[in-house]
Amino acid sequence: MSIVKRLEKEVVRPVLRWARPAKRVVLGGIAIDYKAELDGGGIEFGQEFIPFLRSRGMPVQRRAFEWCSGPAFIGFSLLGNGLCETLCLADINPAAVASCRNTVRQNHLENRVSVYQSNNLRSLPEGEKWGLVVSNPPHFIDQYEGDIRAHDPGWNIHREFFSTIHGHLEDDGVIVLQENNRGSTVETFREMIDFAGLEIVFTYGDKPTLTAKSEFFFMGIVKKGVTAPAWAR
Ligand SMILES: C[S@@+](CC[C@H](N)C(=O)[O-])C[C@H]1O[C@@H](n2cnc3c(N)ncnc32)[C@H](O)[C@@H]1O
Repeated sequence: MSIVKRLEKEVVRPVLRWARPAKRVVLGGIAIDYKAELDGGGIEFGQEFIPFLRSRGMPVQRRAFEWCSGPAFIGFSLLGNGLCETLCLADINPAAVASCRNTVRQNHLENRVSVYQSNNLRSLPEGEKWGLVVSNPPHFIDQYEGDIRAHDPGWNIHREFFSTIHGHLEDDGVIVLQENNRGSTVETFREMIDFAGLEIVFTYGDKPTLTAKSEFFFMGIVKKGVTAPAWAR
């Protein structure tokens, strides 16, 4: 890489990003100030979680977790719309974590929301247990290299998540992931989910092969051998 290109990537672009004013969105009455570079689509297609979970008749959850939260558009929207009572958030990116903490402070949610900086679930306290886990995680194995919002090298972020979630998931807990059919199908994940002692209980909106354009689907996952709650069956 030439010195000019390197300067642009490592100095000019970060300074411009820092200088750009934050945007504001209000979701379920919760105001979120965020930088555009942290938005991974949660503000747009991620909001489909709300009507989707309502349409399945999901009861109010005591505690929900947003994995790979970014600024937590999905998690704060669940909380603001009354789909959960308390919320746990985690992301690897310190800027995303700072954004979540700012939203908590501005909306006086300190008693209802915990925020962690964590590579996957590694820095989450053992005592954190959730009845619902939602996420719009990185969607591509072979594109967007270097972009932590989009790239999951070797599907290792997904694989590690599935293999470490067991102790944090209530026995009747449900994981609902939103994936992109342009980067994966349900079959991409089935074996790693099975290997982790979990099983897929529902899918919604998925196509059997990769699509040319971004199309999003939901996948519901529970612990193997448990009776999934009625809303997830
Ligand atoms: C598609 S973006 C979703 C962001 C936000 N939830 C949204 O819907 O707009 C994926 C997020 O995963 C986070 N991420 C990537 N690798 C991670 C890891 N190993 N552990 C935790 N978070 C990670 C990124 O920082 C980014 O915020």
